[in-house]
Amino acid sequence: MMNLVVIGSQWGDEGKGKIVDLLSESADYVIRYQGGHNAGHTVVSGETVIVLHLIPTGLLHAGKIGVIGNGVVVDPGALLEEIDALSSRGISVSGRLFISEAAHLIMPYHKAIDKESEKVKGTRKIGTTGRGIGPAYADKMARIGIRVVDLLDPGLFREKLATNLVEMNYFLEQLYKVKGFDLEKVYQEYMEYADRIRPYIADTTLLIDEAIGRGRRLLFEGAQGTHLDVDLGTYPYVTSSNATAGGACTGTGVGPTKINEVLGVAKAYTTRVGSGPFPSELNNEMGEMLRSKGKEFGATTGRPRRCGWFDVVLLRYSVRVNGLTSLAITKLDVLDGFPEIQVCVGYEFEGKVYREMPTALKTLEKCTPIYEHFSGWSEPTTGITSYDRLPKNAKTYLEAISEKVGCRVDLISTSSKRGETIVLRNPFQ
Ligand code: IMO
Ligand code: MG
Repeated sequence: MMNLVVIGSQWGDEGKGKIVDLLSESADYVIRYQGGHNAGHTVVSGETVIVLHLIPTGLLHAGKIGVIGNGVVVDPGALLEEIDALSSRGISVSGRLFISEAAHLIMPYHKAIDKESEKVKGTRKIGTTGRGIGPAYADKMARIGIRVVDLLDPGLFREKLATNLVEMNYFLEQLYKVKGFDLEKVYQEYMEYADRIRPYIADTTLLIDEAIGRGRRLLFEGAQGTHLDVDLGTYPYVTSSNATAGGACTGTGVGPTKINEVLGVAKAYTTRVGSGPFPSELNNEMGEMLRSKGKEFGATTGRPRRCGWFDVVLLRYSVRVNGLTSLAITKLDVLDGFPEIQVCVGYEFEGKVYREMPTALKTLEKCTPIYEHFSGWSEPTTGITSYDRLPKNAKTYLEAISEKVGCRVDLISTSSKRGETIVLRNPFQ
C-alpha cells in the first residue's frame, strides 16, 4: 500500500499542479478532496500550458483515474466546461473520472451571495475568487446543501431548490438589493447538467476502497494551502474547506490508517492572493521583482499575487498540522540573481518574540518579521535536474530551510516544465 497526500503548505499557488502532475506518473488514482474551481493547478508540458480548476491533475496522463471526492464543492457548469476544454485538446476523461454522489453542488445563488457579501465587508473583505465556494460550504454545514446525488432525483432536487430559493432570494433581494433567481430556470439548467454528468457519478468511497484493496496507488491532490484551511489557517482570511492533510480523509472517506506519506509543496519564497495577514510580505521593488520573475498572477482570477520572503514559522506550522513526511520546494530559479535572500524565522510583536504561528489575527497583522540573511547566487538554476549541479549558496539556502522547518526535502523544482525537477527521492518509491 502506498498512498500519498500532496498539500499546499503556504497560502496556495505553491506549484501543486506541477508536482502532482509529476508524481501522477507513479500513481493510479488522483483524487481531489476539498475546495472547488477556486483552485488553479497549472501544468506545463512542452509548449502547452493547461490550467485545471476542478478536474484532478493526474487525468492529463493517459490511463489514470480521477476522483472528485465528497469534500469537494462542484459547480456543474464549470466542470462540464473543463471536460469540454480537455476533450478539445484530445484528452478524454470518459470512463476515468468519477464524481462523488455526496459532493455538494455550487448553485447560482452561491456565486451571487459570494460576490455581494464581499462588497458589504468593505476593507474586511476576504478577496475570494467569487466562485461561490464559501456560501456552498455554508449551506453544507447548515444542512440545506444540494448534493450531486440529488441531480439524479429531479423531484427532490426541485423541492430542495424551491425551499432554498425562498431564503436565498430574500437575502439577495431584500438585503443586497440585487435580482434573485427563478426556480424554473435554475431547475432546467441543472437538469441539463444532470444529463451530462450522470455517467460520472459514483459511490467513490467504495471505488477508492476497492482500489486500495487491489493495491493501487492513490495520490490525494490538495487544493489551496494550509494557511487557507478553515480550521487551521489565518481565519477568517481563509477558504471554506480543510485544505490540510486531514481533509483527505473526511473529503474522500479514506481512513487515516490508509495514508502513508504527506508531501508539502512550498515555494522558495512566499505568495498570497486575496486579503489577510502576510508577515514577510515585501511592499517594495524586491516584492515587485519576485512577482515579475515568478509570473505571480493568479491562475484562476488573474490577480497579481502578493510576494515576500520564505517564512519558516508558516512552514514549521504546516509540518506540524499536516504531519508532513517531506517537502517539495518549487520555483527555486526565481531566486537566481538576488544578491541577498532573507528568511523569516520569527515574529516580534509588542516586545514578544514568536517562533511558532500565533493564532490572534492582530499579532500576525501587526508583527515585525525577524530575518536571517543568506547570500544569493548569480548562476542560473533554471532547468537543473541534479542536486550536485546547484550553486553552493542555493544548497546552503535549501539545507537551512529544511533544517529550520524540520522536514526533509524530496523534490526541488527549477522551472515550470514537467521534467525540470530535482528528484532526491520519489515519495511513491
Ligand atoms: P490553488 O489550489 C491561492 C484564496 C482566495 C481568497 C481565499 C478565499 O490554486 O492553490 P475562496 O474563493 O476560496 O472563498 O477565497 O482563498 N484562494 C486561493 N489562493 N490559491 C488557491 O488555490 C486559492 N483558492 C482560494 O484568493 O483569499
Ligand atoms: Mg493556484
